[in-house]
Amino acid sequence: MNNFRHELIRSEVLEFKPYSSGLGIDEIKDKYGLNQVIKMASNENPLGVSPSVQEVIRKNASLAFRYPTPGNQELCGAIGRYLDIDPRRIVCGNGSDEIIDLLLRVTAEPGISNIAAFKPCFSIYQLQSRLCGLEFRQSPLGSEFSFDWNGLLGLVDEQTRIVFLTNPDNPSGFAVPSREIEKFYSKLPESTILVIDEAYIDFASPVEQYSSLKLALKTERVVVLRTFSKMFGLAGLRLGFGVFPMFLADYIRRVRLPFSVNILAEKAGLAALEDLIFRQTTLDLILRGRDYLGDELSAMGCRVYPSQANFIMFRPLEDAEMIFEKLLTRGIIIRPLKSYGLQNFLRVSIGNDQENRTFVTSLKAILSEQSAFDHNN
Ligand SMILES: Cc1ncc(COP(=O)(O)O)c(C=O)c1O
Repeated sequence: MNNFRHELIRSEVLEFKPYSSGLGIDEIKDKYGLNQVIKMASNENPLGVSPSVQEVIRKNASLAFRYPTPGNQELCGAIGRYLDIDPRRIVCGNGSDEIIDLLLRVTAEPGISNIAAFKPCFSIYQLQSRLCGLEFRQSPLGSEFSFDWNGLLGLVDEQTRIVFLTNPDNPSGFAVPSREIEKFYSKLPESTILVIDEAYIDFASPVEQYSSLKLALKTERVVVLRTFSKMFGLAGLRLGFGVFPMFLADYIRRVRLPFSVNILAEKAGLAALEDLIFRQTTLDLILRGRDYLGDELSAMGCRVYPSQANFIMFRPLEDAEMIFEKLLTRGIIIRPLKSYGLQNFLRVSIGNDQENRTFVTSLKAILSEQSAFDHNN
């Protein structure tokens, strides 16, 4: 008997290739019999969760039996004050992933609209587009992973409903000043929405020069996405938001599942916005670690790409897959970029000072073992 019943499943789902995330700590501990594993693969905050946020989560644990307030008004109000914008423009989601999904479902027509982005890009844009029955178009990044505006514009037609940009970009760390984005926006058709994913904007400096928040406020077809997963250290609680034109915020709010942001995520988000010291300490750590890792990787002969994010993309002289695997056996998880179509590239998230040093020492040992091996063979 055939138990698969494929005929019951939508064709987009039959063809769906699930998101491939970085490896987990427990998985690697079990596989290699290790007690300690360092994860520098998913661009999380190397300081963990701020102590003041942990305190708030503990204090509010007893509220977990309650439904959250629909619409997350208190949190949207606090984000509005933090960014100095009207809270009615803000919609929070279960990670910015949820906002990406909602944007596609609210604005694009299955089988008619198309979506455009650079290649490579954050894979959720493509996965959710396909799931929604939308054509997903991609134009290659320019030299050194820069944004080839003309190439991207060449994909856009009257049926292009959304263009996704990531600034700073993932996985390269490349970033453009917002004025370049504004020029690109001015060339888009009236029927196209520009979505600028600023998941890593807190690590770019100066932020005001790179962020397109002001552009979003003065136009009708620009959306900016932000997340609490990186700088704010809350990846596991799932909290992100979009800054929308007023009309679009209204539609997104209408269709969002009412309780997708859970009650502890909301309380934690409120507390995280208050904790300036944690954010400053994170920023200092990331900037220091980014310089240190960049210098050390270059000294090892790797090609290092300038980054405005909390990770560094690099191209080693030796085989990237071999390096990734050998780091795993030493209990260090980084991100191979094969799934982005970048065969011999690796991405390492900036860790704390100790993690960065351990990564550098291990990589040096792996490279010198390998060069001794190459020499003897
Ligand atoms: C470019 C980009 N956008 C969005 C996200 C997802 O963020 P969230 O955790 O808020 O869903 C990520 C996560 O790594 C990312 O790299």
